[in-house]
Amino acid sequence: MGELQALQVPLITPYKMGNFQLSHRVVLAPLTRQRSYGNVPQPHAILYYSQRTTKGGLLISEATGVSDTAQGYPDTPGIWSKEQVEAWKPIVDAVHAEGGTFFCQIWHVGRVSNTGFQPNGQDPISSTDRSVNDAQCTPPRRLSTEEIPQIINDFKLAARNAMEAGFDGVEIHGAHGYLIDQFLKDQANDRTDKYGGSLENRCKFALEIVKAVSEEIGSDRVGIRLSPFANYMESGDSNPEALGLYLVGSLNKHNILYCHMVEPRMKTLGDIAESPQSLVPMRKAFHGTFIVAGGYSREDGNSAVAENRADLVAYGRPFLANPDLPKRFELNAPLNKYNRSTFYLSDPVVGYTDYPFLDETITAK
Ligand SMILES: Cc1cc2nc3c(=O)[nH]c(=O)nc-3n(C[C@H](O)[C@H](O)[C@H](O)COP(=O)(O)O)c2cc1C
Repeated sequence: MGELQALQVPLITPYKMGNFQLSHRVVLAPLTRQRSYGNVPQPHAILYYSQRTTKGGLLISEATGVSDTAQGYPDTPGIWSKEQVEAWKPIVDAVHAEGGTFFCQIWHVGRVSNTGFQPNGQDPISSTDRSVNDAQCTPPRRLSTEEIPQIINDFKLAARNAMEAGFDGVEIHGAHGYLIDQFLKDQANDRTDKYGGSLENRCKFALEIVKAVSEEIGSDRVGIRLSPFANYMESGDSNPEALGLYLVGSLNKHNILYCHMVEPRMKTLGDIAESPQSLVPMRKAFHGTFIVAGGYSREDGNSAVAENRADLVAYGRPFLANPDLPKRFELNAPLNKYNRSTFYLSDPVVGYTDYPFLDETITAK
């Protein structure tokens, strides 16, 4: 890439994220694809992730369960068993062979689940015993104070397993209404113990996970994803800016590698709405690498980097549909459109590894 061209495309400039030397700013956002049969990553994921790997690119894996109570959707991968760790290894190796940096997003869905996904048909666990109004979910059981260290330990073991599988680090999934968010947000957290009530108390669960995971694998390998402004799955907050600022201030004390925040304009997983709110105060307050996501185009990704509103920009649907997205951004080439109906198809090829590369598109014309 010529120097002049690099200057013209802020997204295609190098960036040093802690110990990781990245060659550009276009990150693969975590994308659940529901093709990990029986919660075990499959060989077809080798091709999917390596298609999206560039030398010096950062990839974040699809959300990956920390334990057998963590699942809420069919065929999402886990990382709690030996079999799952072994199954991740060739996928991680393939990304490394192409020169990519690969983080594993570790999650627990909490109450966004039902008895059918739980061991022995037990109730899903949460911060609360109030259900979400969703036909797919069954009422949760509120975790007792004494049970919480066990769940924190599950995140710690999952992080250890991710290292064993060869990942470069983990991203703790603290966004989108799943278990950690069910503790963070005052719409979902109705606890009266030390994990509920005040802002500090609601953030305790997330921060204890950050601490445990950092102690296990090193804070220079730990990121977290947060969506303070979102209210999916009835996990909204009455003061998202205060929540976001308190969290980044606390994360600074743990010295973690990155904070990945979802834009306030993402009202649901797919729909973008104008929002007067901004991530800039959080970006300014956070000392580590700041990744933004949510409805970014090439143009506003470039502006975000050029104006120093972000270090890196994560792309979800555009990267899903364009395996060579960084190259297309570099060349300002047209993008393939994504096909929503195949996002979660369990097919190992269709809507997964069959989106064309730029060269193929040109040849096809
Ligand atoms: C098919 C699909 C699966 C997703 N899975 C996850 C996930 O596993 N973890 C997560 O944090 N976000 C997930 N998201 C949200 C994306 O990471 C991203 O934030 C969202 O798509 C908005 O970015 P975009 O406008 O670039 O697509 C998913 C989104 C889509 C469309």
